[in-house]
Amino acid sequence: MRASAQDRQGNPGDGRAGRLSVVSTDDEVEALSSRIVTMAFAGQPQLAAQLATFARASSPHSHPLKRSQAIADLVLGKASALDALEEALASRPDDVLARAYYGAGLRALGRTGQAGELFDFANLVKAASIPAFSPEHNAQLEDFILEHPTLERDPAGKATKGGWQTGELFLDPSPLASTLETHFRARIAETLGSAVPPFKLVGWAVVLEAGGHQGPHIHPAGILSGVYYVKVPGGLSGDQGALRFTPGVPWLGPPIPRQALHDVSPAAGLLVTFPSYFWHQTVPFTASGKRICVSFDVVPAARVADYA
Ligand SMILES: [Fe+2]
Repeated sequence: MRASAQDRQGNPGDGRAGRLSVVSTDDEVEALSSRIVTMAFAGQPQLAAQLATFARASSPHSHPLKRSQAIADLVLGKASALDALEEALASRPDDVLARAYYGAGLRALGRTGQAGELFDFANLVKAASIPAFSPEHNAQLEDFILEHPTLERDPAGKATKGGWQTGELFLDPSPLASTLETHFRARIAETLGSAVPPFKLVGWAVVLEAGGHQGPHIHPAGILSGVYYVKVPGGLSGDQGALRFTPGVPWLGPPIPRQALHDVSPAAGLLVTFPSYFWHQTVPFTASGKRICVSFDVVPAARVADYA
């Protein structure tokens, strides 16, 4: 999961002036909010909820704290947490983290029909090849990624485990990166149409080998995300190597039944787009060879400063 940009958009005033407050800056609010969520999923949901209540007493209008308290309450199984997340989304419809946990909470608390409407994989996960991007382009792109100076094994704070990930690719002056960005922007325009706001395209590559994978995550800074497959190992069978969408997370609620999952089989040249709040992961594979892709987020211009 990428860093939560929304957390940095807390209300700087929030009525905290002149009060004793456990947090006084947006960064402190962000750090405390993240800590509350971490505690909630680390076996201390009661303590996390109490900490959130205490912090919100002095920062009652803090959006990140409200969201974190709701997530802690979700772990405690409180249905009221869904109301709190609905309120949070009413004030900030672009809060990807709140929307993702709202959907996960719906499923966890048994409202699977509503979760299914929010995570409408059949209609909102779109996959089509980029015909203009030839196998020769993909071979060049593979070399470009594998030789990229930012390529890093198991980067801290990312979903990639047992693999490699680059930094932002579209900062690279390579014509190859710019050609790829042009294709992505064309697909984004097709997908979002007139709804697309001014945005920055942020992209990075992921390289996986046998056993490597990405755990469940979302892309908190985006409105639309995507992945383009540069290379896929031969001999993948069943769901091996698949991009898997899930209507929730395994750490919240009962096990997710197989029929609720939505798999996309990767293939070189395929571009997949999906709303950034969709939980997704990759299925490990045993075949030899590299699975190489380029992922991206459509980051609204208003959020770009928060994304770094
Ligand atoms: Fe992802």
